[in-house]
Amino acid sequence: MSAADETAAAARLAFQAATSWLDALPDRAVLPEGVDEAVDRFGGPLPEDGAGAAAALAELESGLDAATASPGPRFFHFVTGGVTPAALGADWLATALDQNAFSRVGSPLGTRLERVAVDWLKDLFELPAEWGGALSTGATTANLMGLAAARQWWGEQHGRDVGAEGLAGLPPVPVLAGGFIHPSALKALAMLGIGRERVRIFARDSAGRLDLPALEAALGALGGGPAVLVGNAGEVNAGEFDPIAALADLAEEHGAWLHVDGAFGLFARLSPRVAQLAEGVERAHSVIADGHKWLNVPYDCGFAFVRDTALLAKVFSLAAAYLPSDEPEPTYGYLTPESSQRARALPVWAALRAWGRAGYRELVERHLDLARHLAARVDEADDLERLAEVPLNIVCFRYRPAGLDEEELNDLNARLGEEVLADGRVYVGTTSFEGRTAFRPAIVNWRTGEGDVDLLADVVLELGARLLARTK
Ligand SMILES: Cc1ncc(COP(=O)(O)O)c(C=O)c1O
Repeated sequence: MSAADETAAAARLAFQAATSWLDALPDRAVLPEGVDEAVDRFGGPLPEDGAGAAAALAELESGLDAATASPGPRFFHFVTGGVTPAALGADWLATALDQNAFSRVGSPLGTRLERVAVDWLKDLFELPAEWGGALSTGATTANLMGLAAARQWWGEQHGRDVGAEGLAGLPPVPVLAGGFIHPSALKALAMLGIGRERVRIFARDSAGRLDLPALEAALGALGGGPAVLVGNAGEVNAGEFDPIAALADLAEEHGAWLHVDGAFGLFARLSPRVAQLAEGVERAHSVIADGHKWLNVPYDCGFAFVRDTALLAKVFSLAAAYLPSDEPEPTYGYLTPESSQRARALPVWAALRAWGRAGYRELVERHLDLARHLAARVDEADDLERLAEVPLNIVCFRYRPAGLDEEELNDLNARLGEEVLADGRVYVGTTSFEGRTAFRPAIVNWRTGEGDVDLLADVVLELGARLLARTK
């Protein structure tokens, strides 16, 4: 077989396997039966002799039951989007074209589409047009980028170019946040040499809600020295927000940097019904969001937006005689942690082109309605208890039959959480919210409909009753 024929055959095989898997997605259990056996199909030593592309792909197809139906409508765990039709097609093209979006010279297509996508996203999120930005592999790397820009700025306030000289000899970087701060921001601070344990958290309750006066007092006590504030637009337990506008006021008053993690909550800005939750984001210095959540583009994709792009370049640029300089468009390999990088702008651009602002606004509003519908189902069920308001797209609730104390309820809900995942009809994770073990379904997938959230409530009630009967 010629190389061209082998490539075409592999592409056809992948297309057929993918489309039949996707066709069954609406009815597919999130956790397929026989997942352990399917996983065990893969293993063994590195083969000495190759099997060829067709055989490799056939073997892969035989193990697709090791995949969860994560792009399907009933995956409510974590915060997990699906893949829109346009994003899927464009992502396949990105792989087929294998563009290196590092630079304009390497991929005029990837670079131009990234610039357009970043501009469109700023428009979508109502961020100032003059800000810079770049795509990333997710919200964690986007947090890394925003906080790297913050660290660079902070170093400059001390007369130092941290990108060039490092942090040695400088005092610790003061980072202040509320209790909503996501662990990925802490991970970013660890990577940046600031230290995850250096963050001072100001929470007024066990849910992590920001204690603004305490944060303000601590900021004041720094005596005008530069500091970094981290705000969360959307936290994972109940979808609540830090008061971003108040943080922006403090940042302005004290000359601090404000970084906002809006991994999914930034999408609140698309709907007038909830836009006020993320008010003030446009006054921050760095703002990030995820693509593989509410934009519903495939892994891996996030976005970082910064007021001053030059700060990103001071951290992430690299130079060598063989590398390009002074390109007519941003050289994204000089603004992001990766150098060579996948042309993930293709799916982002295509998704936005296919649905436009109105399509994404409609998506967000549909999910707001679904979250309210689920909240109503929880409220009307005797054995379910909602634990928080539903400002956005997450419903925090627990199974609560009568006659159990708090410890017993926590134990029951933890075990029920495991049973729901093992059952596999719907997928939803548990958390600890104000000391109570709770479910926290997050609705961001474009395929999710009312029947899916109804099934979630039904499954929790059904398995809960069964578990309770076994425990008695
Ligand atoms: C608020 C927030 N920030 C950051 C992240 C990390 O995102 P990723 O896994 O895409 O890096 C998440 C993931 O759920 C999140 O909800």
